[in-house]
Amino acid sequence: MEFVVSRDPLLRFEHLLPSLSRKLLPCPVEGRETTYHFWARNALYHGLRFLGLSSGNKVLVPAFHCRTVVEPVIQFGCEVVFYNIHQDGTIDFEDLAGKIDLQTKALLAIHYFGVLQPVQQLRRFCQEHGLFFIEDCAHILCGDIDGEAIGSFGDISIFSWRKFFPMPDGGLLVRNRDFSQASIAWESLDVWVQMKIIKNLIEQAMHDCTRQGKKVSLPPDTDVSPSEILSSEDGNENSQVTANNQVAEFDYSQVNWPMSQWSQSILKNIDLPSIVQKRKDNTRVLFTAMSELADVHPWGSVGETSLCTWAFPIVASTRRDLHVKLRKRGIQAFSWDGVIHPALALEKFPEAKFLYEHLVLLPNQQSLSQHDIHLVIEGVKDVVSGGDCSQQAVRS
Ligand SMILES: Cc1ncc(COP(=O)(O)O)c(C=O)c1O
Repeated sequence: MEFVVSRDPLLRFEHLLPSLSRKLLPCPVEGRETTYHFWARNALYHGLRFLGLSSGNKVLVPAFHCRTVVEPVIQFGCEVVFYNIHQDGTIDFEDLAGKIDLQTKALLAIHYFGVLQPVQQLRRFCQEHGLFFIEDCAHILCGDIDGEAIGSFGDISIFSWRKFFPMPDGGLLVRNRDFSQASIAWESLDVWVQMKIIKNLIEQAMHDCTRQGKKVSLPPDTDVSPSEILSSEDGNENSQVTANNQVAEFDYSQVNWPMSQWSQSILKNIDLPSIVQKRKDNTRVLFTAMSELADVHPWGSVGETSLCTWAFPIVASTRRDLHVKLRKRGIQAFSWDGVIHPALALEKFPEAKFLYEHLVLLPNQQSLSQHDIHLVIEGVKDVVSGGDCSQQAVRS
């Protein structure tokens, strides 16, 4: 089944042409040393190297996470210590403070889908405890907090721009300190990988050509079994109705890969300000609509910032199947229930468990029309009311 409302933006052939106007790649924090990696997880791995961490050091990582941030830390040789995240997405500083010992060297904090962490408090906390601050901005395209660029607060920060643009790969490492003694031993992508990327891009551009400008309607709902809600492994036959359809592994053999030249071309061709604006507009409409519903609500402080985010987070307190039902109707909502790292003892973190089970991410990407956003809103209303107004929503 193809999604009617996709979470991925459209790729156009002109994105693939060499850029005549822009020579340099855009960056989220002006004036800072930025490197362009194949994945953000690789950027994190190299960030740990730049910080000078070594085997046996402990790194504090939130219990609510995607396993792609945990695995690079483990494979680097550090020990991961999980800390609690409250149900509103904020850091539990009390829990954090109780987990520090002499081996603890760094704290990784995630700005979740627009729920920002208190960067000044985190900076002070890290200074007091002699920790490096790793700012994970994978869910934010760019923006600022009180006039300072997001990603400029940590000793290092990472971004995952492949989530925002129609490009196959792309993660960024921003260094906010001088680490001139360390470097990256870049390896070029092998021919096979490059050919695969080209093939996929051409197929995607052709496919997206037919998707563009199409007025679409949602299929009616069908029954969803509990196994579909719980099953979310990559590549299974239910992948279009479950949460996790990304590659969530860390592959050490790829750690020195740069961002591919095709992703770099796409990045040079995109119109960043208009994408930022479009995503913010979509987010605002979703926020207003979701704030009016009884059984779901926008997550935490998400309405207080106007950052450009990867997706729009809502909490469906009383149900676990909202994203599954939406996917059944052709709306590519997702959750994080399939991306928990196996090292996490989930029963010790009931608040994170709640979030894995109840936080749902709605598409807000730049290629969505007002009609698409309308379909998302009506789809959510329809599912939470238990009715079937999806066809009416399309006709109106
Ligand atoms: C919070 C967070 N950090 C880092 C990453 C890793 O990004 P990438 O998939 O580009 O390696 C992800 C992936 O989804 C993420 O959710």
